Amino acid sequence: MAGSKRRRKLARGRQSRKVASRVVKRLNQKVRKAKRRAKSRAPKAASLSRKSIYSNGLAEEGKTFPFLKTHFGQVVQGDSLDVLRNFRDGSVDLFMTSPPFGLVRKKDYGNVEADEYVEWFKPFATEMYRCLKDSGSLVIDIGGAWNKGYPTRNLYHFKLLIALCEEIGFHLAQDFYWWNPARLPTPAEWVTVRRIRVKDAINTVWWLSKTPWPKASNRRVLQPYSPAMQTLLENGYTAKKRPSGHDISEKFSINNGAAIPPNLIAVPNTESNSYYLRYCEERGLSPHPARYPAELPEFFVRMLTDIRDTVVDPFAGSCITGEVCERLQRDWTCIEILMEYCEAARGRFIRPASATAKSVGKPDAPSDERNYYQVPRPGVLWNGPTGDDLPADGGRKRPEKPRSVSEIAPTPRSDLFAKS
Ligand SMILES: C[S@@+](CC[C@H](N)C(=O)[O-])C[C@H]1O[C@@H](n2cnc3c(N)ncnc32)[C@H](O)[C@@H]1O
Repeated sequence: MAGSKRRRKLARGRQSRKVASRVVKRLNQKVRKAKRRAKSRAPKAASLSRKSIYSNGLAEEGKTFPFLKTHFGQVVQGDSLDVLRNFRDGSVDLFMTSPPFGLVRKKDYGNVEADEYVEWFKPFATEMYRCLKDSGSLVIDIGGAWNKGYPTRNLYHFKLLIALCEEIGFHLAQDFYWWNPARLPTPAEWVTVRRIRVKDAINTVWWLSKTPWPKASNRRVLQPYSPAMQTLLENGYTAKKRPSGHDISEKFSINNGAAIPPNLIAVPNTESNSYYLRYCEERGLSPHPARYPAELPEFFVRMLTDIRDTVVDPFAGSCITGEVCERLQRDWTCIEILMEYCEAARGRFIRPASATAKSVGKPDAPSDERNYYQVPRPGVLWNGPTGDDLPADGGRKRPEKPRSVSEIAPTPRSDLFAKS
């Protein structure tokens, strides 16, 4: 009796060990299957074309992972510092980029604190300097920042410029200013509530070069003459010395067909119905929150590079630089660290590049008013003495109730007029 009990117990033990090993086996199979599935999904991008990055002679094989390849370029997902380290010396004609800005309040794509910004950026700058051709340029669009809790500006983007020139060796070819006419009146606390600062509506754009002689031509970025200049050209101009001392010769009244642009680029950042946005919406992807308008990279790509030159954006975001280059037939590489932005950027390249072109050799009528932004001359609304007294505390105290514009509008003070 005791023996048969022991045999039954042993049999039960064998049975449960068999079941347990079957369960473990099945589990292992599931894990292996999941791993295989994950592998075939995640690096789908990577395996798309690992060859492509080497085909334009930029990198050493095996070091970087192209996410997407197009006719002229590629999106590489990864840390641009790692990716750039594999680029060959003197292989790039233009770095066109907008890095994460130094912020006092962090955005959701890993902006760096303004105070640490220069140190953070220097390794990237060193790599870009090494990779540039002697004729090459680095163009950086960088917005300013306000000091936390104060109506004063942080100096980080000026410090960056100085470090790039004095420590890394770049030359400041020219400083540009991108004016976004559609910018909202921010920061609201200083601009609309306390009314002690004006709208912050420009980004600085530093055009840096490896030598004082980067290749460039302003003929590539001409603009229509302003209506005032057209009138002048039609009616003629009397050569004379200006009050500023500049001698304006007859040459100024020659109609060259178009005007040389200033270093102020006026473009609203109001993309609202692009293919990219629709692509993101249809797939439930978040569009990049800090995109620059296509006209900004296009200006510099046109002015500073030729067809089949190499353009790299190491902080690519939505890869708009790549989209512009694809259309202008430049070889390009966009590097973006976040997979979700790379996924969204796919939307920029799944149709033929020509479809994104605004106009093909057919400019808008030069006299069309829509081609111009009008900035009122200061003084148009000024009327007599300034009226209202300035806040003696510099706006330190928040007004209880914001005043309307009519309350603030200057009212002439009779006591300030000279008695006749
Ligand atoms: C200001 S956004 C660029 C936006 C882009 N110009 C556009 O119009 O879409 C900066 C981008 O740099 C990316 N980034 C930050 N650090 C990076 C790194 N080390 N390597 C590659 N990308 C990086 C961020 O994820 C962010 O998408």
